[in-house]
This record gives sequence, structure tokens and C-alpha cells, in this order.
Amino acid sequence: MKCAIILAGGKGTRMKADCPKVMCKVLFKPMISYVIDAVREAGVEDICVITGYKHEEVEAYLDENIKTALQEPQLGTGHAVMQANDFIASHLGDEILILNGDGPLMDADTINKAYDYHRKNNNAVTLISAIVEDPTGIGHIKRDENGTLLRIVEHKDATDEEKLIKESNAGCYWFDGGELKYALENITNDNVQNEYYLTDSVEILLGAGKNAGAYVVENSEVVLGANDRKQLNDLNTIMRRNINNRLMLEGVDIPCTDGVMIGKDVKIGNSTVILPNTIIIGDTVVGDGCTLGPNTYIDNSKIGDGVILDNCKILDSTIENGVDCGPFVKVRANSTLGEKVHIGNFVEVKNSNVGAGTKSAHLTYIGDSDVGRDVNFGCGTVTCNYDGKNKTRCSIGDGAFIGCNTNLIAPVEVGDMAYIAAGSTITDDIPDKALSVARAKQVNKEGWVDRKKPFKNQK
Ligand code: UD1
Ligand code: CA
Repeated sequence: MKCAIILAGGKGTRMKADCPKVMCKVLFKPMISYVIDAVREAGVEDICVITGYKHEEVEAYLDENIKTALQEPQLGTGHAVMQANDFIASHLGDEILILNGDGPLMDADTINKAYDYHRKNNNAVTLISAIVEDPTGIGHIKRDENGTLLRIVEHKDATDEEKLIKESNAGCYWFDGGELKYALENITNDNVQNEYYLTDSVEILLGAGKNAGAYVVENSEVVLGANDRKQLNDLNTIMRRNINNRLMLEGVDIPCTDGVMIGKDVKIGNSTVILPNTIIIGDTVVGDGCTLGPNTYIDNSKIGDGVILDNCKILDSTIENGVDCGPFVKVRANSTLGEKVHIGNFVEVKNSNVGAGTKSAHLTYIGDSDVGRDVNFGCGTVTCNYDGKNKTRCSIGDGAFIGCNTNLIAPVEVGDMAYIAAGSTITDDIPDKALSVARAKQVNKEGWVDRKKPFKNQK
């Protein structure tokens, strides 16, 4: 059985964040979520996360299948793993993966290749390493003249010569369970930082006559972590590029990737076009042949086929086939736009169902409403859904015509094919097919201006 320990106890001082470092986000998701996904994808079943700084925040984020162990205070990565003693004790005969929670680019393929290497060489520990351009701050992999692994030297403890070593420890290891227990019993804090380094376990196990090895990755990006906001931005850039590239190879058209940020879990159909400055995140599913953007934000929504969203914000909603929205449209939580609905500029829809073929071309608020099919909203219609205390619903029947500048004071029901005169304030239900006029009658007073002279400088 494969199991894993994820280190997530650190504060991440250099990040200057209020949250634990592993909760800092890459493409709008905490870094640790990527690590957990990769570990699970690699076939690991039992996971223990080491928490510490603001542990409640990490614990609240994890699902109930993940175990946790608290590290208090945080005395280094080795000390962190020691907190998982019970977990390790239940996996003495297993291979245990240990990895940093702040390395979201680590992938299942690399984890599995390292595992195969680990087993093939009958290693007590196998670490993952990479050749990096800038070796500042890393754990350097020290080898002898024959290339045999000797130990890991932390940058702060390294000699000037060692600081030049470009082979970097990724912070991801496979351990034999029993050997891990032995190594932890022998780690001391005799170093510059007075911390218990997990990295010392390599030298400890080699010293005990065990096998240890380094699996060197081909793509050094997978080992990158983030210690500060600049590195976080680098991770975003790489992750964004990877996801965009994958989607393009799957048939999504991104003519210019500027400002295009698509979350890892988003699914997008064939020949959909994503225009610049478009952010699509959460559990969003997009169909085929849509045009999304420019300047569109979609979170956690279901978008059908052939949908056009131009300068829109769509949150937790369902947009059915052939809908055309925008520019400047906001669809808020819990709304459904039926097939071929047309929503034009400066229209907001919230917590409402809008039936197929309905049109609302401009300047309208549809809130807490159930709207039938083929309804026509005139410009400037407002559903007045809030009386200062309570929110109530409006219902509008199929084929109704809502004149421009109508106020619908909820709760109110407009019948099928009812016809509302422009400028009406509707407070009572309207029967099917009735005309409703709810405004003062027009009065023209001829010659009034000449008699009253209301204008400045009027002779
Ligand atoms: C660590 C490695 C270094 C490696 C690098 C890769 C050690 C001593 N060094 O250094 O060789 O090149 O990762 O990114 O392991 N954490 C705890 N408790 C603690 C300290 C840290 O849970 O007491 C967690 C952090 O939340 C983080 C991870 O361990 O997720 C790594 O900690 P960090 O301080 O970033 O280690 P590095 O200095 O980067
Ligand atoms: Ca780190």
C-alpha cells in the first residue's frame, strides 16, 4: 500500500501572508490542493497532513478522508514528520511518500517514476531532485566523484563551494516505512537553523548501510515551490501555461493567451474560443463552440454549447445552449438561462430562472424571479425583490411583454402573454393576456410655457 505525509505546518514568513503558506493560491486554489490531487492520482490512499501555523485553516480545507497531525511548535521538516509517528507506525511495512505542501507542480507521473526507481534499487529512501538554474536557498545534493549520493546540504549550512551545486532537493521522497522510523529516531538539530532537517535522513540511512538514491526529474519545473509572492507568481505563470497548452491540444481555441487563466478542474469542449482576459475557475464545464470573452469571469458554472459570453461575470449558474450574453452582464448565484436566451448590456440576473428564448436586451435587473419562455423585457425593467426586510419572488408567464421602465413589486405574478405598458409600477397580479397600465394618465396643458415663463432668460 502507498501512503503519504504532506508537510503543511510552516508559516511561510517570506510569503508575508495571513494564511499558512500552503493555503496561498495558485490559479485561485490553495497550493496544497494540487499536492493532494497529485498524490491521489499517483494511487496513494492513506494521507496524513502535518499542520501547524493556523492549523484550523488547513484542517477546515481538507476533506474528511485525510488524516492530520499537529506540529507545535514548528522545529523543521524532520520534526514535522516526527509528529506523524502513529501514522508511520501503522505503515511500517509500506512505502511512505513525503512531500512539501508548497510544491503544487509536482505530478503523479514524477511521483510514480520515483517510486519505480525506489523499488528497483531497493532503496531505504529515494529523493526527487532537479538541476536548477538558480541554486540559492535550496537543499543541495552532494555526490562523490563517482556520482554516488552522499547527503543533502541546506543552503544556509553549505560551504561556498557547496552553494554552487545546482542539483536541488525537491522536497519529495519515498521512504521504506521501517527505515523512516529509524531515520527519525536519529535526526538532530545540530545545524545553523537549529532545526530537525528531514534531509538528514539520507546521510543517516547511508551511514547505517542502507541504499539511498536520487531520482533526477527530466522537467525541473515540477519541483518548484513558492517561498515568497514572486515565486508564487512564477508558479501561476507555469501552471497557467500548462493548462492552456493542454486545452489547446484538446481542441480549445485560445488565439491570445494574455490574461487567460483557466483552473485545473475546468472542462472545455471542442472549438470553443477563449478571448483575452478571461478567467474560468471552479467546477466549471463549458460545451462546444462557445465564444467566451474578452474580459469574462466564470466561476463554478455549467455553460452549454454555442454560448456567447462577452464581458460577463457568471457565478454558480447554468447557461444553456445558444445563450448570448453581453457586453457587461452579471449572472449571480443560482440562476439558469434557458436555451437561446439573449441578455444584453447592463443586465443583472440573480437567483432566477429565465425560460428559453427570453430577451432582455438592456439595463434590467431580474432578481429572485421565475421567468417563462419568450418573454420580452423592455429596457430598464426592475424586479423589486426586496422590501427592506424580506426578499420575495416575481413570476412572469410565457410570452409576456414587459414594457420599458417597468417596476415589478414582488411578490407578483404576471400571466402568460400579459402586456405591460411602459413605465408601469406593477403591484398586483396580472391575468393571462391582459393589458396592464399602472401609471398616471398624461395631461398636456397647451400654451403653459408662454403663460408661466418657467425658463431662465425667457422673454
Ligand atoms: C526544504 C528542504 C530543502 C529543499 C526544499 C524544496 C529541509 C530541511 N529542506 O527546504 O532541502 O530543497 O524544501 O522546496 O527539509 N514545514 C513544516 N514544519 C516545519 C517546517 C516546514 O510543516 O517545521 C513544511 C512547510 O509548511 C513546507 C515544507 O515543510 O510545506 C517545506 O518547508 P520550507 O521551510 O519551505 O523548507 P525549505 O527551506 O524550502
Ligand atoms: Ca520551500
